[in-house]
This record gives sequence, C-alpha cells and structure tokens, in this order.
Amino acid sequence: MPDYVLAIDQGTTSSRAIVFDHSGTIVSTGQKEHAQILPRAGWVEHDPMEIWGNVREVVGLALTRANLTHRDIAAVGITNQRETAVVWDRTTGKPVYNAIVWQDTRTQRIVDELAGDEGPERYKRQVGLPLATYFSGPKITWILDNVDGAREKAEAGDLLFGNTDSWVLWNMTGGTDGGVHVTDVTNASRTMLMNIDSLTWNEDIARDMRIPMSMLPEIRSSSEVYGEGRTGGLVPGVPISGILGDQQAATFGQAAFEVGAAKNTYGTGNFLLLNTGTELVHSENGLLTTVGYKIGDQPQVYCLEGSIAVTGSLVQWLRDNLGLIRSAPEIEQLAETVEDNGGAYFVPAFSGLFAPYWRSDARGALVGLTRYVNKGHIARAVLEATAYQSREVVDAMNADSGVDLKELRVDGGMVANEALMQFQADILGVDVVRPKVAETTALGAAYAAGIAVGFWKGEQDVVDNWAEDKRWTPQMDEAERERLYRNWKKAVTKTFDWVD
Ligand code: G3P
Repeated sequence: MPDYVLAIDQGTTSSRAIVFDHSGTIVSTGQKEHAQILPRAGWVEHDPMEIWGNVREVVGLALTRANLTHRDIAAVGITNQRETAVVWDRTTGKPVYNAIVWQDTRTQRIVDELAGDEGPERYKRQVGLPLATYFSGPKITWILDNVDGAREKAEAGDLLFGNTDSWVLWNMTGGTDGGVHVTDVTNASRTMLMNIDSLTWNEDIARDMRIPMSMLPEIRSSSEVYGEGRTGGLVPGVPISGILGDQQAATFGQAAFEVGAAKNTYGTGNFLLLNTGTELVHSENGLLTTVGYKIGDQPQVYCLEGSIAVTGSLVQWLRDNLGLIRSAPEIEQLAETVEDNGGAYFVPAFSGLFAPYWRSDARGALVGLTRYVNKGHIARAVLEATAYQSREVVDAMNADSGVDLKELRVDGGMVANEALMQFQADILGVDVVRPKVAETTALGAAYAAGIAVGFWKGEQDVVDNWAEDKRWTPQMDEAERERLYRNWKKAVTKTFDWVD
C-alpha cells in the first residue's frame, strides 16, 4: 500500500490539493485562486474550465513539492463548494454556461414560482431544505431556460449536471472518454432534488423544476471507489474513493462522530453542523437537514446545519471593494486599534440572510454609526458579525435539539484570528476549540477516500489522530454578552424588506 492519500478541495475562492500521511499530517500543499465573475448585482459565477485547469495544476504542485508521484498515492478524495451548479455537454466536455455559484441570487423568481401558495417549505419534508436561491436545482432550471439550445440538448440526453465534485471526478476519470458521472449523498442532499430519507432522486421535484433525470449524476456513498485516474492524467490508475461536500468533510475531519458533536467552519461563509446520528431531525428553527456522511454500506449519518452566507467574504469585501485593508489578516491589527465596536454593527446580508432567517429580501446594513466611529470600529464590527451570526445558529441548534451545546470545534481560515476566537467564546458562552490540523475539510475527504481502500481502518483512526491545539474560554460577563447580542438582533431587523 502506498504511503499517502491526496485530497482535492475545490472551494469557492480557490482549489487546493493536499497530501496527507497516515497520521493525518499535511505533507505538501498546492493552491490556486480562480476568478469570481460578478456580471450583475447578486450574480456570482465561476469558469468550470478554469477550475479544472487549476485542479490539475495544484495536484501537480502538491506531488512535486513532496517529491512524490502517483505511485505514492493510495487514494484520492474530493471535497467541494456545495450547491454550485455546472452543466456541461457530455460529447464535447465543455460547460454550456459558467458555473452558477451557491451565493448567486438570480433564481429568486424561479424559487418564488415554485413556492407558489404553499410557501418556501413546500419540499422541506422530502428534501430537508426550504426553497431558496442557495440550492442547485433552480440554478439548473435557470441555465436550461436561458442558454440557447440547452433545453433541447438536455432533453436529448446530451447534457450533464454536477456540483464541482462531479465535474472534477468526471474529468479525472476520463471526461468525454468514459468519465464517471457520480456524486455522493452529501452533495446530492444540497440540490433540493434528493429524498433525504431514501437518498434517491425525487422525480416529482425534478419535473416541477423541469430538469430531465438523464442530467443527474448517480448518487453513491461518501466512501467507496467511484473510478480511477485516467491513463495519461495526473494520477493514472489511482482509486478515487471519497467525496464529501466541504462542510461535511470538515465535520468528518473534526471527528464529530458522536450525536451532539458540532463544528463551525470559518470560510467564505460559516457553516455549523451538528451530528444528529442516524436519526433525521427536521428543524423548527431555520436549520437545514442534511446528510453528514455515509461510509460504504453503513447507514447514513444526518446533521442539522446552520449556513451563514457571508463571514470571511466580508473581510475580502473590506479589502477589495473598500480598500480599508491590504490583506485579509490585516483586519486583526486594525480591529486592535480600538477597545470595542464603538456601537457599530455590520450585518452582511449580501446574498439575503441564510440561517436561521432565510430572508432573500434582506440586504447588508452598517448601523449604530456616530461621528465617533472610525475604521478600527468598522473592522471590529466586521469580525464580530461572524461571531454574532454563529451565535444565532447555535441558539437555533439548542432550540431544535433541546440540549445546550457544550463546546464548539472550529476550523477554516479565520480561526487563526485570536481576537475573533476569544470573542466567539465570549458571545457563545461556551469553549471554542481549535484542532492541530486546521485543514479539516481536506483531511475529512482524505479520510473518506483512505477508509474506502483500507489505508485507514475506520472512524476510530480519525478520532485517534485528532488533537487539540488551542481552547478559548468565555471571559465576558453574562450581562455584557446579552447586551451586545440584543443590539445585534436589532441591527438584523434593519436589513429586511430591501428588495422591490
Ligand atoms: O455551501 C457552500 C459551502 O460549501 C462553501 O464553502 O468553504 O467553499 O466557502 P467554501
């Protein structure tokens, strides 16, 4: 058995390849950003060809940097930005349109029409999700309705749909020359097209969305051999044997296997997942029911998820759109120039508000301003927004599960920010814990792939490899915590009803 496993993390802002050894330690990494295409307000696209090119490049980089070849790789796992929809022609291998990204809100009309008199919860019992622009199904409908000739081709069976996991897998396994068209249960659970209990496509919903069944990938478990790298490719003959949506991968990499275990990933957005075991829980408080993972033939494990659309991307916005900082980490220094937020609250409802509100009519607001507020306060308000939004999701989880969260495992780019992590513990009133390997998303995909081929024995290996790096304990007094949080809640109400 070769000594390493390779994970490909096809994320919202970049694609990465990471090589892990048997102890779950990072051996080498390759990373490349891709363009965020923003043709109009509310529209967000990626070029799937650029993404595929970047994936190839970063896999090459990760292998070369560690002085490895495909012969050293036991298995490949794929993890990905979820919901982002790619539609491509199976005979030419070319996308018919750019990928429509999960943050994109152009499908609002389609979503409203589908909701009709029954409202946004129309399909919730079947798929675990409310109708929202976030999910893939309506994005496919939009492409078929708006790209010349696409519907005819789709009906003739010439077009394929996939999230970026399927797109990367299809290309890696041969593309037009026999590529495998498959997704896993976690990605399928974000399309609005999969029955959340039976893990099969729901033909009635596909019909309502006017999506031909022939476009949809085959749904498989998160850990099994789907195919192998094509001859002449970067990893010829290597089994590709793990797929998990990125948030589920992080949950897996955090070893959150016990019922009641939770993790929060701080990326472009924040995604808090709570393991509810093999039991499917329908939220009464604005959370999503989603598949957490399914290892081969074992029963699927479910999660409740609180998705927050904008957290890390607000820091990028401050850098790119306002020029207030030159690099994202600079925000910490700027925020440290002041004692507190000076009364300012920033609610980044750029794509409407996701959990727990699901308000597509919301738009961003910066409130509480006085002449006193300076850029340091704004930087603080930007960081604090991530912590407040996470608190709202934790409250919803406590309400749904009837049990209060004991501690929160965290990962993702922003967990390097010490001030934010302390503030997060303060606002939640529970410990916040960061693991030694903060790249839990890629690690989770590596584990899923490695378990399928016997490189790791099972979940116990993941638990044994997990190690705590740092713990933040709440230091704020209760009255102050609740005062700040009350103000935040008031600020949120200022974002409603902004779309004509
Ligand atoms: O649901 C969207 C999520 O999967 C995106 O994650 O880390 O690529 O921003 P990320």
